[in-house]
Amino acid sequence: MTDTITITDDRTGKSVTVPITGGVFNSSALRELDPNLFMYDPAYLSTAACASSITYLDGEAGILRYRGYPIEQLADKSSFLEVAYLLLKGELPNAAELEQWQFNVTRHTMIHENMRKRFVDGFHYDAHPMGMFISATAALGTFYVDAKDIFDSESFDKQVLRLVAKVPTIAAMCYRFSQGLPFVSPNNALSYGENFLNMMFRIGDDYTVNPVLARAMDVLFILHADHEQNCGTTAMRVVSSANSDPYTATAAAAAALYGPLHGGANEAVIRMLAEIGDVKNVPAFIESVKSGEGRLMGFGHRVYKNFDPRATIIKQTAYDVFEVTGMNPLLEVAIALEKAALSDDYFIKRKLYPNVDFYSGLIYQALGFPVDMFTVLFAIPRTVGWLSHMQELLADKDQKISRPRQWYTGSDERNYTAIAAR
Ligand code: ACO
Repeated sequence: MTDTITITDDRTGKSVTVPITGGVFNSSALRELDPNLFMYDPAYLSTAACASSITYLDGEAGILRYRGYPIEQLADKSSFLEVAYLLLKGELPNAAELEQWQFNVTRHTMIHENMRKRFVDGFHYDAHPMGMFISATAALGTFYVDAKDIFDSESFDKQVLRLVAKVPTIAAMCYRFSQGLPFVSPNNALSYGENFLNMMFRIGDDYTVNPVLARAMDVLFILHADHEQNCGTTAMRVVSSANSDPYTATAAAAAALYGPLHGGANEAVIRMLAEIGDVKNVPAFIESVKSGEGRLMGFGHRVYKNFDPRATIIKQTAYDVFEVTGMNPLLEVAIALEKAALSDDYFIKRKLYPNVDFYSGLIYQALGFPVDMFTVLFAIPRTVGWLSHMQELLADKDQKISRPRQWYTGSDERNYTAIAAR
């Protein structure tokens, strides 16, 4: 038996019955009733704006899967580039495919000298690296005449490869600029995560990447690679629906990620923990949150209402990293804060749990990243997710340019009054 839903317009008595598939019914049912009838759904709380086969997420059960594979298995057994291949192509690569993909990514990590000398050097000395990253990603597209050929699959794949390979180089370049350090060229002998750490932190000749830290970087990249229709990915889809090029669309998605309620939260968590400063100040801070003075950053999620599976994995990664780097002094405050919140009625009632950002910032800090690089670290792997969604959208025959409707609540028609009469 097919599940159905029947909607009756009480103004006219007209009814329409439509199937429910996978918990979703087609909104064309409303247009059948009345072409001028719209659903008011601010922030898309009840709207599925697309069909997608990339990431499965069950917020109540705390499940996250990429192309069907549980995030726990991927974080444990896979590498970031293998996961990137999986997200973009839909299947895990065989050994030859993986080798070719790694080779291709590694050979596309360089960026044009003008990007650094003319573009990045033009920023103010204290520019936020995420602002630089967003603009540099958009600017990168201007170097490729074929960037706009999005319906030529060979060209599109080339842009995807370029972006996946070059975003770590852009990120490291923005960081080195903000520190006044010379730019370190990509090293083809290193893995994706190792190469990124090397471009970030190499000073002189004696730098070697610690394998535990490189693996932690890879795991963090895997956990952040995709998360279905969040704010940044929705921005990616909306901009892509206008057939913009992948560089510009990625920059738009990164701009959304920059916000403190989205990817900027891990930065906000560290600032919050530093402000609390000491375990003894935790109860007073919790009370201030409850009285509405601010939010407990790194807590709560639009979809996860029991636990964020990424937060569980990341907590373990944090301990692996701290074994190498020594304990982050803010960890004690974080643990006390988590414990206090998880046993407090305010947070229990609202189903507020630590999200991926609660611990990721502590790891980034232990790895040596300054706080304002955190969102950039999120944008690097998420570029893969964004591009997977762009690719899916462009192939989806149901999609058109995004254009929601509005509920107009302004004035009725009125006559212009001369300024002297106002
Ligand atoms: N601290 C305190 N109270 C909170 C928090 C929080 N972190 N999050 C939600 N609440 C409260 C709200 O005040 C509201 O209470 P009320 O019912 O008394 O008004 C209730 O919980 C529901 O909150 P909403 O804002 O409606 O939940 P929404 O799903 O819109 O927000 C969000 C989700 C934005 C993530 C929110 O929980 C938040 O602001 N968290 C802090 C920022 C953060 O960590 N963001 C990272 C998200 S993960 C990511 O983007 C990678």
